[in-house]
Amino acid sequence: MTDPSSPATRPLRSFGRIKARTLRPRQQGLIETLLPHLALDVAEPLDPRLLFSQAELVVLEIGFGGGEHLAAQATAHPGWGFMGVEPFLNGMGSCLRHVEEGNLQNVRLHLGDARDVVRQLPDGSVDLVYILFPDPWPKTKHHKRRLIQPEVVGELARIVKPSGEVRFATDWANYAAWTLEIFSRDHRFVWTAEEAADWRAPWAGHVTTRYEAKGLGDCKPVFLRFRRFPGGG
Ligand SMILES: C[S@@+](CC[C@H](N)C(=O)[O-])C[C@H]1O[C@@H](n2cnc3c(N)ncnc32)[C@H](O)[C@@H]1O
Repeated sequence: MTDPSSPATRPLRSFGRIKARTLRPRQQGLIETLLPHLALDVAEPLDPRLLFSQAELVVLEIGFGGGEHLAAQATAHPGWGFMGVEPFLNGMGSCLRHVEEGNLQNVRLHLGDARDVVRQLPDGSVDLVYILFPDPWPKTKHHKRRLIQPEVVGELARIVKPSGEVRFATDWANYAAWTLEIFSRDHRFVWTAEEAADWRAPWAGHVTTRYEAKGLGDCKPVFLRFRRFPGGG
């Protein structure tokens, strides 16, 4: 069997730096004391029903940055279970601060690549996936580093429940078109938009993210919702 963690079979890195400035003592402390209690064990199959035994919905946020969106959603929906993944250590430190300050009991985290989490999730085990303002890799020669690739979308189709959803946002026009193209090729997903307002305006309950607020892209934010077809396959 192919070992997905071996260097030869690992996908290209889709993220930039994994550490910036030295962590503040409080955040370093949370990495050492709180993260071990919340960390997902990606060496083994994950079972969201055990992680969140009473949760009405299970949500996965890929690339949560500083965790503001994740924490806001977890606060707004205490009855839902949230898995957040981010390889950037300083982002994880910030997220842990939000989790501690909010005394959030419905969050589990992974410091690393989301593809390692997705691989360990059972079929049809997640209701909602957020991928908000992923690294755009705007140069053509770097497009292969983008998180959205046919294999990743295939894996999302596997883990998202029938009628569940993937919510994607970007402010790079080419990344929006790229994502639409790849999702449209996977017939297990359907783009839910019926009119321009559906992709120009965020979905109900959206919380503006840190990157979104910076407006670094080349277009206004585009919000794409892909619903998993109820059928299997
Ligand atoms: C441009 S930032 C946006 C952060 C946040 N979603 C926001 O909107 O403020 C993209 C984030 O995705 C993370 N990322 C990139 N590839 C990832 C991967 N394979 N798994 C998990 N996170 C990833 C990066 O480390 C980075 O923090």
